[in-house]
Amino acid sequence: MRYNKLVPHFNMSNIVVLGAQWGDEGKGKIVDLFSERFDVVARYQGGHNAGHTVRIGDKKFILKLIPSGILRPGKQAVIGNGLVIDPAALIDEIEALETLGIDVRSQLAVSNRAHVIFPFHRIVEKIAESRPDRVAIGTTSRGIGPCYEDKVGRRGIRIGEFVDPESFACLYGYLAEDKQALARAFGIDEPVDLQAIRQQYAQLAERIRPMVCDTAALLNNAIGSGKRVLFEGAQGTMLDIDHGTYPFVTSSSAAAGGVCTGAGVPPTKIHGVLGVSKAYITRVGGGPFPTEAKDEMGERIRKVGNEYGAVTGRPRRCGWFDVPLLRYTAMVNGFDSLVITKLDVLDELDDIPVCTAYRVDGRESLEMPATRRGVEAIEPVFERLPGWRTRTAGVTRYEDLPVRARNYLRFLQDRTGVEIGCISTGPERDQTIVMPGSKLEKLLG
Ligand code: IMP
Repeated sequence: MRYNKLVPHFNMSNIVVLGAQWGDEGKGKIVDLFSERFDVVARYQGGHNAGHTVRIGDKKFILKLIPSGILRPGKQAVIGNGLVIDPAALIDEIEALETLGIDVRSQLAVSNRAHVIFPFHRIVEKIAESRPDRVAIGTTSRGIGPCYEDKVGRRGIRIGEFVDPESFACLYGYLAEDKQALARAFGIDEPVDLQAIRQQYAQLAERIRPMVCDTAALLNNAIGSGKRVLFEGAQGTMLDIDHGTYPFVTSSSAAAGGVCTGAGVPPTKIHGVLGVSKAYITRVGGGPFPTEAKDEMGERIRKVGNEYGAVTGRPRRCGWFDVPLLRYTAMVNGFDSLVITKLDVLDELDDIPVCTAYRVDGRESLEMPATRRGVEAIEPVFERLPGWRTRTAGVTRYEDLPVRARNYLRFLQDRTGVEIGCISTGPERDQTIVMPGSKLEKLLG
């Protein structure tokens, strides 16, 4: 038997870029920037609950379902099987991008195995979120959770069936009637015209059909022919259905493991994982948040960092960098390197608290408790680092950062145990520092 010679895989590496906190870490800009080096950019989970703004020159692009790679002409963008797709939202997003000059239809492939969100999924969500005997999760109200429930309950409608009129006609009635019965049982009197939805969605199916294919085959063939794929995570690891702060999570696998199931690509084809983290931390919606700054410092970060949800406009809860949380998400994802975003938001502070450990039942720990009560019981242990009180926005060389900003970054790197390979200093592509010689630089190739 003959063995192939071992060759370094860096130039053909496929990587994952995902959120290391509770989402909104600024992944959109990073994926857009890094996608220059890749042939394909693929989403593997979530839906239009995600949302980010990418600024290129004087143009502002808002992406929810479509991977950020779409903004680079000629790149293949993929919506993988792990997503849930509201066809109306997809068409709206395509049209908005087309008016900005993006040739979406020639670049985008949509998985025939992804699931379809219908308007009645939002009604089911309303039932769950408004019951007086239940703690609301504070969802984005996009029907994401109920659609995943149908997927796991094996009664969902997949894109492949949706664009096939016969299959759609067969499957739609059962699903819609189920939901209507549920709404009635819970006294939701919102009128739902199931026939009108069916007609509207049948028309949307016609428009989506030309983009539909087996994206797992597309991705594996691309990889097989030497093309490079960047997998783009949505939300963040702490919102992952398994590894996040359950039940205050989204309903999909946002962590790196989700790539394999949500894109149909084996783990042996993934060569690196990059975590994106803010220099502080934010969260939208309900749920425990150990380092939340409920005082005027939190307000200040919200204002300076413009911390309002891209999808819902809700004010984000703001707090301090959480080392144990980052160590946990690094463990679950196997981060090779970190991208730190929004460092400049801290520019004006005299000193900056960083949570270096959790105190739980009087004992210090670096571990993330699994239960809701466990996370709620955390008392963060803070160390305060001196602020730099100098503008860092737009700095493009590490040496040009103030010494105290560099010390802050080094502290985060030492305590989390993960290399900081990239620092984003503003929303524009060129407002970025890639650390020379870093693992991240090598993975980008
Ligand atoms: P869902 O994904 O709409 O079901 O919402 C579940 C939880 O995830 C809520 O706390 C949302 O605020 C949060 N969430 C969902 N998508 C995002 C996101 O893209 N960024 C930040 N939080 C998100």
